[in-house]
Amino acid sequence: YTITVDPRASGAAIGEEMYGVFFEDINYAADGGLYAELVRNRSFEFQAADNRAYTGLTGWTTTGTATTVDDEARLNERNRTYLRLTGPASVTNAGYNSGVAVAKGNLYDFSVWARSDSGSPLTISLATAGGTALAAPLTITIKGDTWSRYAGTLRATSTSDAGRLTVSATGTGTHRLDMVSLFPRDTYQGRPNGLRKDLAQKVAALHPGFVRFPGGCLVNTGSHYAYDAASNFPRARSYQWKDTVGPVEARATNANFWGYNQSYGLGYYEYFQFSEDIGAAPLPVVPALVTGCGQNRATDDPALLQRHIQDTLDLIEFANGPATSTWGRVRARMGHPKPFGLTMVAVGNEENLPEEYFANFLKFREAIKAKYPAVTVISNSGPDDMGVTFDNLWAKNRAAGTEMVDEHYYNSPNWFLQNNDRYDSYDRKGPKVFLGEYASQDAKFFNSLAEAAYMTGLERNADVVKMAAYAPLFANVDNVQWRPDLIWFDNDESWGSTSYQVQKLFMNNVGDRVVPSTVTGGRVVQPKPITGRVGLSTWRTAARYDDLKVTAPDGTVLLADDFNDGNADGWSPIENRGTWTVTDGAYAQTDVAAENTMVAAATGITATDYDISLKATK
Ligand code: AHR
Repeated sequence: YTITVDPRASGAAIGEEMYGVFFEDINYAADGGLYAELVRNRSFEFQAADNRAYTGLTGWTTTGTATTVDDEARLNERNRTYLRLTGPASVTNAGYNSGVAVAKGNLYDFSVWARSDSGSPLTISLATAGGTALAAPLTITIKGDTWSRYAGTLRATSTSDAGRLTVSATGTGTHRLDMVSLFPRDTYQGRPNGLRKDLAQKVAALHPGFVRFPGGCLVNTGSHYAYDAASNFPRARSYQWKDTVGPVEARATNANFWGYNQSYGLGYYEYFQFSEDIGAAPLPVVPALVTGCGQNRATDDPALLQRHIQDTLDLIEFANGPATSTWGRVRARMGHPKPFGLTMVAVGNEENLPEEYFANFLKFREAIKAKYPAVTVISNSGPDDMGVTFDNLWAKNRAAGTEMVDEHYYNSPNWFLQNNDRYDSYDRKGPKVFLGEYASQDAKFFNSLAEAAYMTGLERNADVVKMAAYAPLFANVDNVQWRPDLIWFDNDESWGSTSYQVQKLFMNNVGDRVVPSTVTGGRVVQPKPITGRVGLSTWRTAARYDDLKVTAPDGTVLLADDFNDGNADGWSPIENRGTWTVTDGAYAQTDVAAENTMVAAATGITATDYDISLKATK
């Protein structure tokens, strides 16, 4: 090969925000992960309606009379259930993963909201499951039968990743407890209600230009209806930013799209603060009231749509408004009188009803631009599209002069290698690209090399591709719902994948501008495509795209691709009809737009169903 580089030629400038991170509470990334709280189900709000395995005492064991109660004596309307201990009695929390992780010599801040009719004290102890003390116990006297917050500090005398936190009422009488909390003093940048240091440091070490949050499918699904127990999803109020700010004891625990509960202790204020702490631009995603992610519904309630649009304006005021404004005051009271400097908002995630989505997008954009003309409003390109551009949404975005469009794709390493030129031909006058989610899947180390090669194509097209983020960011080793992931952790250790090292390399060495280059010589191997049409009869689905198989007529398996983890984690089926082109082990699906009807009936899925087969004919 001959590579010719002309350092005097001036290519596109590469922006500060070129590479960022995408945080979503998937794989138990928030509670028990980035959010440093050590107590699971601290507010006793878990219930079977959220997840069949849950009860008010999930995470806890009890001795004596200890029951969860939702009655008039509750702490507040949003934190309804509390624990009633009729002494002598105790409750013990097992934390996350193997238990409560503590390190010898470190301080741990305990707090609880409590009331008692007897005035007898509570004893707080940290020990192993076998009863070996990990700290000297703490005694707290509850003064009276009205709710107050009590706090104290424990110093670990040994190191353990399997501790247990016990709250005992040794005397008689009725004690009511809520928000039983234990935080390491040593959070990232020492912030109260803060982030787990090693995990936050791993993100900070990437020097991200932006942080996209809070999802993903977490955001858009359920934005306009509650899931019922018979559906494939838990009951959930959609992710709404106002639920996640203010005092933590008044943030309602909620089921999330990924099938487990989120405390919202890590909420919008904390996301903005973290973005600021690591020098990244915050990029919130708001629901557009047209669900993607396996659901195919759009709201038909104009008042609800209007309310969400107003919520988005309020969000911008929360981030940027003066401390005297309604929502700026909320931010100031939480500890940040200065604005956070929000410059962009993404409306929706992988919305798959193009007409309905785009109509809503335009309404959001009109309202945002009228009040905040400088805020960039990012649109969608459609569902996670395996690298296929959903032309109808792109066309609408182009016609409407959209500033930036969010694309997502998870694909094979071969696809990433073969599509290095994806953006070379993008319209230079059209919307800019925000590659909000991507990852090479299924080939371990080769994934990272394919991503690195692909990122050279992103950077080469920095005039069009303005921002890009690998996804997902985190995975808790005991609760993996999606792989691969960038940063892995248990309750006291964390490590980056090889893709993390690739991201780190690129993100810490972002150039100022592209230096044009040409390559000549060498041998170009032309892959031989096989194209086949997949009709209704050939798809069987459980989770979308799992174990995709492409078989030639003679039975040869051309491609066997295990996209996902193979569990029924909430994905409902997507039809795989359309024309599939298989090229040298990679594939693309085209002309799917017209037929891309999501299948709503997602019930009755079992693990044995993961054998989508797509037969390609020559
Ligand atoms: O990153 C995991 C999921 O992939 C996101 O929630 C969704 O946007 C995408 O399909």
